[in-house]
Parts: sequence; C-alpha cells; structure tokens
Amino acid sequence: MAPSTLFVKRLSILALHFPYLNSGFSQGIQDLFAPRHFMAELTNPERRMLRALQNRHDAWTLEDILSACNWDDQAIAVSAGHGLSNQGLVKTLESSTKEVILGSEGKNAAENGLLEARLWTYIQANSSATMGDLSSNFERHETGPGIGLLKGLGVSIQGGKFACDDKPSVDKKIEQRTEYIQSPTINHVLYEHFKGRKNLIEVVELVSRTWKISSDGINISKEELEEHTQVAEITPELLQSDEWKEAQFRPYDVSLEASMPRSGRSHPMQALIERIRSIFLEMGFSELVDDYVQTAGWNMDALFIPQDHPAREMQDTFYLDNPKKIQLDPKLLANWKAIHEHGGDTESTGWGGQFNEDISQKGLLRTHTTVNTIQYLAQNPTDPCRVFAIDRVFRKESIDRTHLPEFHQIEGIIMEPGANLGMLVSTLKTFYAKMGYPEVRVRPAYFPYTEPSLEVEVKWRGKWLELGGAGIFRPEVTEPLGIKDPVCAWGMGLERLAMLVLGLDDIRQLYISDLEWLRNQPIL
Ligand code: PHE
Repeated sequence: MAPSTLFVKRLSILALHFPYLNSGFSQGIQDLFAPRHFMAELTNPERRMLRALQNRHDAWTLEDILSACNWDDQAIAVSAGHGLSNQGLVKTLESSTKEVILGSEGKNAAENGLLEARLWTYIQANSSATMGDLSSNFERHETGPGIGLLKGLGVSIQGGKFACDDKPSVDKKIEQRTEYIQSPTINHVLYEHFKGRKNLIEVVELVSRTWKISSDGINISKEELEEHTQVAEITPELLQSDEWKEAQFRPYDVSLEASMPRSGRSHPMQALIERIRSIFLEMGFSELVDDYVQTAGWNMDALFIPQDHPAREMQDTFYLDNPKKIQLDPKLLANWKAIHEHGGDTESTGWGGQFNEDISQKGLLRTHTTVNTIQYLAQNPTDPCRVFAIDRVFRKESIDRTHLPEFHQIEGIIMEPGANLGMLVSTLKTFYAKMGYPEVRVRPAYFPYTEPSLEVEVKWRGKWLELGGAGIFRPEVTEPLGIKDPVCAWGMGLERLAMLVLGLDDIRQLYISDLEWLRNQPIL
C-alpha cells in the first residue's frame, strides 16, 4: 500500500472514533495536521487556570496557581500553562538560577566526614601510624587520594611516618571544608576547590516559571471558561446509553508529537504474504503447500521443458547430491518420453531427440512453484479447482540488486470447463487491484508449458514493471496427466511485488534484518 493511502486509511479510522473531527472544522482534514491553525477547545484545567488569571493581571508563580486552582499536582498546572501559552492566552516567563547540590561522594562526606577529615583524625589518634596502617584501616581507593589531600594541607611523610609543622592550620582548613560540605553554595571560596574534586558537588540549573495573562486571555468571557465533563474515551457503555448525544468530546490533537509504540510485529515479507493469502482466499482459492525437494521430471519434464533447455544447466538449477535420484512411476516416465520425443497422442510433434529417464529422476530444489500445481492437477485431474501457493523457490543466481538465489513465487491455477485467457487476465487484474495496483497490462510471452503465454506488467510510478508469467497449459502438459478441462496458470515474483509495495530499489534490503528499517515499515 502506498504511504499516502495508508495515511488516509488511518485518518478515516480516527474520524470514525472521534466524531468531532468531522464537525466544527470547515478547514478540512488536511488542516488538522498543521500546528494549531485553529483555536482548539480549552481543556478543563486550562479553563480553570485562565479563570484564576483573569482575577489578577500580573505574574503568577506556580504556588499562586496551585492554590488559586485548588490543585496539588504541579504537572497539571504546568501543562495547562503550556496549553494556554500555545494558544496565546497567557505568556510564560522563564528564569533560571544555578544551585549547588551534593554529588554521590558529597552526600557520603556530609554524613560520614570528608576523607581528609577522617584520615587526619586517625593520624592524630595514632601518632606513629604508617602508610601501611592507613591501607589496612581505610578503603583501598581512599588511601592514595587521601594522602594527596593531606599533603595539600601541609602534612608530610618522614621516614614512613606522618609529620606536620602547623597542626592548628590543618585543623582549621578541615573544619572550613567540613562546614562547606554541609551547605555548599556557589559564591564561596571553597566552591572552586570542591568543583575540582570528583562527585562531591554538582551545579544544577533550576528553572522557575511565572505566568501572566495576555489581552486575548483577558477578553475570553467567563461563560466560555466554564468547566464541563469531557469524554476522553468512547466506551461501549457510552454508546449504548444515550449519553453520547449530549456529551462533550475532548479534542484530539493529531498534530502533537507522539512516541512510536515499539511492539513486536510481523516482518514485512510475512505481513505481505498474509495479505496476498487473504486476497486469494477471498477470491475462492485454496492454498497448496508442498516440498522444496522435487524431481527434474515434475519440475521440468511434466511441463514440457525440453531436456536440453538451457534453464536446466547447472548455472540455473540446484541439483542435489542427496537425494541424487528419486524414483518415479515408470508409466509416468513412459508418458513423458512419448510426449517429448514425438508428441504422444496429442498431435504435437514433441521435441524430437532422445528422452532420458535418468535426468527425470534427478533430485533438485524446485526452481518454480509450478512444480506443485502440476502435481496437484495430476492427483486431481477431473475436479475443477482454484488453487494458489506462496512459496520459496531456488535458482543459482548471483546476488545483486534485483536477484536472490532463494525467493518466493505467487503461483496459481484455475481449472474448470470453459476456463480461458479472459478469465486468467481478469483474475490477475482483480488480484493486483486488491493489492492497490489498478493498472495492469499483459503482453505476449513464451513458456514451454503454456499457449498462449503472457507476461503480466503493473504500472508503478509511471513505469510498467514485469511481475510474472501466465498462460493456458498446453495439451503436451495436460493430456498425459488425464486433465480434460483448460487450466489457467500463473507464477509471479513475491519479492518484486514487495519492492513495489515498500518502495525499494534493492531486493537485499528485505532480508538483511535492519531493525531500524523494519520498525519503520508501514503496516501492510
Ligand atoms: N513458472 C514461471 C516462472 O517461474 C511462471 C509461470 C507459471 C508461467 C505458470 C506460466 C504459467 O517464471
């Protein structure tokens, strides 16, 4: 889905849930996304605060407002003030002051004493204390910096012991520091000293706000500022009762920033597969799931792909070592041999040459999902059906912007009396229209197993893009399997469609698990 379609979809959901989006604003839905072009309805707290401010036209502090409005939650006042000033009804004045608070070490020091104070007390009490004593009586990380601090205060170490010429001066400095850490301020001689020490003090900026009513605010009438109960959530009870008819709905401002909920979600490829699956189910198809490992016989011979077809060469097909050979019914092999060599009973001339049953029984990774629909038909040759598969196929491709060796096909068949090309084309057109691509065209193409064959193209950003092949199965395919009714068949690339849907120009983006990209993909 193109992003714009998604947008409109979301909007219509909003409009359903929030009827006031449809009423009252003549500007149209687009304008709702412009920031506050309209005068939004005031919330109840905004009304109450403005009523208070109308009583006195000078600046109001937070405390003034809380007591005048009878609130005890600051957040209500701040958000009402914010809302009112966004609408030009009040002016918010901000001023900031700096304050010193204690850091983690500072709190510790205020409680248990500064490190230098604790060391100093210890040394005074144990006059013969050595460095070793300090290490065993203080924390490991304290001794080194602690001795540094003491040295700064005029303590020296002589012969492994502590000495000091001017003990009263050390006492005094420590006392001043201790006093400071109890109530630190910015305008103090010790501020610089403590700022240089780790985690002792921090400077914080305190913002204080005041609010003042504007002339627009003064002019709003008291009646308009009456508070009334507003419905913020539409509940089943509200809808069942008649209350909703009279209720006032709280305006829903879709222009506000909102945080993106980050919850788990499907990978976009999985989401796309689910969407395609539901479209085919809706169109009356049943899903077919089958194995990756197949025989060359079903993958190619049954589909009348000549045994010397270049697509069978090693560069295109992953042949398996295990199982190297898968036994096929000799009757089936005989039928295919006849068809390939001379057309069997179909009036076709076949491909001529020698058909090789060993080649048919080679194990491989399926190169297309047509290998599964053809087997379904072989098992149910006479029951009309509509079957689809969305499944993985493998080809020996080197990886680039548009190729992967593993990818998915959207395969389908319709078998019924009178099935024809018109039905095939209209089915594909319906599918793509449901996917959001109404412009589809078909062009003649060639596949060994269909006649007529066609290529399906979808218009995207003004260009025609080829998305897959389709056609009516040839008698060389259907007759040996006992299929009597015409079969419309198609096979389309899922990753190519994903590139269109998600607007990618590199197929690899789908599988590199880039979390940021995955989170930002639209919901499909
Ligand atoms: N199998 C073809 C492919 O892999 C697509 C296709 C399917 C064409 C059925 C015609 C009919 O490209």
